[in-house]
Amino acid sequence: MKHEIYYFSGTGNSLYAAEKIAFNLNAELIPVASIADSEKIIITADSAGFVFPLYYQGLPVVMMEFFDKIEFTNESYVFAVVTRGLAPTGGVLNKMNSILKNRNMKLDYGAYVTMPSNFFLPVDKGVEKNYDKFNLKIDRKISAICSDLRKGNKRIEFEPVFFYMISGIKYIFQIWIQPGPCLMPMINVRAAEHVPASVSEKISA
Ligand SMILES: Cc1cc2nc3c(=O)[nH]c(=O)nc-3n(C[C@H](O)[C@H](O)[C@H](O)COP(=O)(O)O)c2cc1C
Repeated sequence: MKHEIYYFSGTGNSLYAAEKIAFNLNAELIPVASIADSEKIIITADSAGFVFPLYYQGLPVVMMEFFDKIEFTNESYVFAVVTRGLAPTGGVLNKMNSILKNRNMKLDYGAYVTMPSNFFLPVDKGVEKNYDKFNLKIDRKISAICSDLRKGNKRIEFEPVFFYMISGIKYIFQIWIQPGPCLMPMINVRAAEHVPASVSEKISA
């Protein structure tokens, strides 16, 4: 059986998940960035997975462009693993299903992995103290996903529209109230003024 995993990762979380899943399934790992210029992407694998981060409750542009170009040659088992910074934000698995339906395919399996948010660097919220616990939870979730994928399970993680809309608002609210260096250029200046000493030391180190 031929397994392929297409991934995009801005800061490494999705790469971490993709590598673990690829190792587990003995799958070929393909960076979406390496084929971004292709006009068409033909998927011939028996199982094709997509691993990428959640951006603004949706797909990163690079993934949207990628999905516009894909074509399947057979009835592949299709799965998506989406990393995110805050549970239970989401809404992207249903979107992906609609995209795939336009290609007469469907999403067989979809799951989220909540990982450190790269929207903001963690700022003095006790996050560092809980890293071990957090990492253990991440690894457990990835192991559960691998076990599902090996069995060919068909299941899409529940993402109630109302819930993810509310949590999306919470996420955006968090952006404005949480002081810290922001990775988004548009609010970098504002956030930088409030960088706590501990964080600015880490940045300049
Ligand atoms: C532009 C941008 C938008 C994001 N939007 C969301 C979001 O809506 N919900 C969420 O939970 N996390 C959001 N995040 C956090 C990432 O999804 C999360 O940290 C992810 O694991 C990063 O994966 P990566 O390291 O592979 O890029 C966002 C991050 C960025 C950079």
